[in-house]
Amino acid sequence: MSHEVVEKNIGLMTVFILLVISVGGLVEIVPLFFIKQTTEPVEGLKPYTALQLEGRDIYIREGCYVCHSQMIRPFRAETERYGHYSVAGEFVYDHPFQWGSKRTGPDLARVGGRYSDEWHYTHLNNPRDVVPESNMPGFPWLAKNIIDGSLTPKKLQVMKTLGVPYTNTDIANATQAVKGKTEMDALIAYLQVLGTSITNRR
Ligand code: HEC
Repeated sequence: MSHEVVEKNIGLMTVFILLVISVGGLVEIVPLFFIKQTTEPVEGLKPYTALQLEGRDIYIREGCYVCHSQMIRPFRAETERYGHYSVAGEFVYDHPFQWGSKRTGPDLARVGGRYSDEWHYTHLNNPRDVVPESNMPGFPWLAKNIIDGSLTPKKLQVMKTLGVPYTNTDIANATQAVKGKTEMDALIAYLQVLGTSITNRR
């Protein structure tokens, strides 16, 4: 009988539905705020340098994440191919993280140090020069565009607000650090550091 009352009263029903969802949500979400593992950086993790941070912005602008993930799952097939599986503590300075969800190309979570800077340069300019069967597009303009460093300090400052431990000196020197560099330099600097906080330790 009382059930019928609830079913026929949409207001009451809404209240009960909200109550159930809130309790369910709280039980699932609140513990996440207290798990240290997800907020503690892995040992040796360094904030991106000003140049790497600019490179990361290019990575996002050019949509590299549309074809590349940065998340190695803890399965044998993945770790044999890419290296150590990704752990939460590697991404605490990534705002937002670039895990991605589509792999047209290989995962890039541990691409840092796998190839030389020259290889990346040639590959990004025209992938088919080094991987003949590649269907990755070329990004030749990156080598021509010079980074505009006027906003770089602000970018570091924003990251600092989000919890990345940049010093005031880092921020003050940011424009100088990217001066005269091309977007290609920045992107390669970013690619070369990916995943290395773990691989460099082995
Ligand atoms: C349309 C999909 C697509 C886009 C967009 C794309 N890639 Fe790729 N990428 C691929 C494919 C496919 C491969 C594998 C063939 C090759 O090595 O060229 C690849 C390979 C790579 C590799 C070599 C990885 C390895 O372990 O051998 C790197 C590094 C890379 N891409 C970086 C980038 C960057 C940086 C961008 C953005 C500027 C980008 N890609 C955009 C599809 C894409």
